Amino acid sequence: MVAALRLGLLLFLSPLRAAEPSTDLPSSPETPSKTRAAAWERGRSGPAPLTDVAKLCVCDLLVAQCDVNCCCDPDCSEADFSLFTTCLVPIVTGDSHLCSQKAAIYSLDTKANPPGRVFKLVDHINPSVFCIHATNYEQALSFRSPEIPTAENFDQLLKKYGSATFSAEPESWSVNSDASDPSDANESYRYEYGVPIQTVDAFLRLPSPVVSSWCSDANPAGFLVHQATKCIRSISVENCGNVQAVSMLFYINSSILAVPKSSQMVNITVRSVVVQSLNGRHTLLSTSHDLRNPMISGELCINVVHGVSYHITYTDAGEIIEAAASFVLGAVNKETLSIQQSFEISFTQVNTNPVPFSGNPGYVVGLAVRAGFKPQGSGIIQSTNKYGQLTILQSTANQDCLTAQEARIPVLFGYNMISGCKLRITAAMNCQPLAQVLLDLLMGQRFPEYVASFGNSQAQNVLDWVPITHLHTSEQSSCQIPVALEIEVKWTKYGSLVNPQARIVNVTATTTTTTLKKLPQGRERTIPITSSVVFTDVSSPAEPGYKAWPTINAKLQHDFFFPFA
Ligand SMILES: *[C@@H]1O[C@H](CO)[C@@H](O)[C@H](O)[C@H]1NC(C)=O
Ligand SMILES: *[C@@H]1O[C@H](CO)[C@@H](O)[C@H](O)[C@H]1NC(C)=O
Ligand SMILES: *[C@@H]1O[C@H](CO)[C@@H](O)[C@H](O)[C@H]1NC(C)=O
Ligand SMILES: *[C@@H]1O[C@H](CO)[C@@H](O)[C@H](O)[C@H]1NC(C)=O
Repeated sequence: MVAALRLGLLLFLSPLRAAEPSTDLPSSPETPSKTRAAAWERGRSGPAPLTDVAKLCVCDLLVAQCDVNCCCDPDCSEADFSLFTTCLVPIVTGDSHLCSQKAAIYSLDTKANPPGRVFKLVDHINPSVFCIHATNYEQALSFRSPEIPTAENFDQLLKKYGSATFSAEPESWSVNSDASDPSDANESYRYEYGVPIQTVDAFLRLPSPVVSSWCSDANPAGFLVHQATKCIRSISVENCGNVQAVSMLFYINSSILAVPKSSQMVNITVRSVVVQSLNGRHTLLSTSHDLRNPMISGELCINVVHGVSYHITYTDAGEIIEAAASFVLGAVNKETLSIQQSFEISFTQVNTNPVPFSGNPGYVVGLAVRAGFKPQGSGIIQSTNKYGQLTILQSTANQDCLTAQEARIPVLFGYNMISGCKLRITAAMNCQPLAQVLLDLLMGQRFPEYVASFGNSQAQNVLDWVPITHLHTSEQSSCQIPVALEIEVKWTKYGSLVNPQARIVNVTATTTTTTLKKLPQGRERTIPITSSVVFTDVSSPAEPGYKAWPTINAKLQHDFFFPFA
């Protein structure tokens, strides 16, 4: 009783006025409805407590249609009322704890001709000493249901309550105990931005023009520092076998340390080798990734390194887990005194904690689109790498299509993307092999067959997966090369208006090809190769339907006025 009284006093807007016996408070019905409407706007954690009793109508279930025998339904006309037999809800009252409350009374006048509805708005006086004149403390009016973290409100909740660990303690407490020992806390266990990438003997070199345009091998590659360099190396056919810096081995012979000072090593693998002929023609060696040493072949020295592109894969813990190198090898002839070499290093983070779903059930914007293959008689097979299921070509710094092999970025739901590279076409290029190389470049190693319609589609439910439709637009001619891949993802909003879920309904992959015109000898041409992803919302506009059965009643009675209940 005492507790209830104290809480009750807290709720008085004006204790002095509250003590006066008052039957007419013109502004009091306004205030609570306003504060609660505001609370509803802010919190959205419960049903809107409507206190304009004339507008409150729990039997109004059909949108824009008259509910039979619902005398408070604003959609009903006089003609409808004349057909009613009774009023389902004869009286609608406001908060029973208010000292003065409005009540809307509905009845049918069956004696009238035609029978009509009678509406009265009356004031009820609450005789209780603990009645509320007006409330200004909206939190006291109901138990607030705790907010359940969802993908939508997670960031906001994290900002409000959490550090990365959702610790309930003040931030100063969560200082890592071994971080307090600075001697072993720094850079030994992980690579940090800019720290030279260590190898067994020294560090990974990215030759660069340091003081002149000549290559200097003293430039260490820094962790996460994307770089592209070009420099000049002197070489002649006679000594080409003795110049280490033009052999593939020089760039991959020493393993990288997974983390600084570690004994764990990561070998540098050869990812691709492109051979450039004297006239500039590039050929991708698809089968063998073996080391090729510079050697004299007739008048020429072949297998001379013209370019190296390193791809480093690392984890969010600053550990290198994979290192690969793509090479461009070329030939030098008797006249050659020097060659220009180009170097590049790029970094890709792997997702070490793969999240199985991209939304539950609908897709969440920014998460990877899930895709896979369907072998005969089995469910969908997905790559375990969530970010490798549906990908497009990744633009690289040097933009050369033939060295950009295998660099791909994931398609993220709701993000329209475009990427591309440039292809240098020379007279010597052959149509068929080039077309295949470009198709592989656009589609990746294996283009998926199915896309999950929901963020949580199960692999065994094949009907929850949408087959990718392949379309082609091409010119009529004998030699066609693919130059663009456009992926269009059509999606709709699915489910209730309150919490619509994104669902993919159709995916098309359109390949555009163009005619490879024969170039005159010695001429070359650069054409852009592009890939893109477009997300299109094809939802039809919402249609009126049945409202959910109002839960407002049950909720209000359960806890709405809990201090007094
Ligand atoms: C790492 O710690 C050593 C000794 O505690 C210190 O001399 C060095 O500067 C630190 N390095 C970095 C990158 O913080
Ligand atoms: C790698 O090659 C360079 C140059 O040939 C040489 O100096 C270095 O010792 C080699 N490293 C290893 C680990 O073999
Ligand atoms: C790395 O290369 C060395 C020498 O070539 C080889 O013995 C070792 O097995 C390789 N390690 C891995 C993980 O492939
Ligand atoms: C997707 O749309 C394309 C073009 O409108 C159509 O040809 C294809 O059949 C559709 N695919 C599915 C699975 O409905």
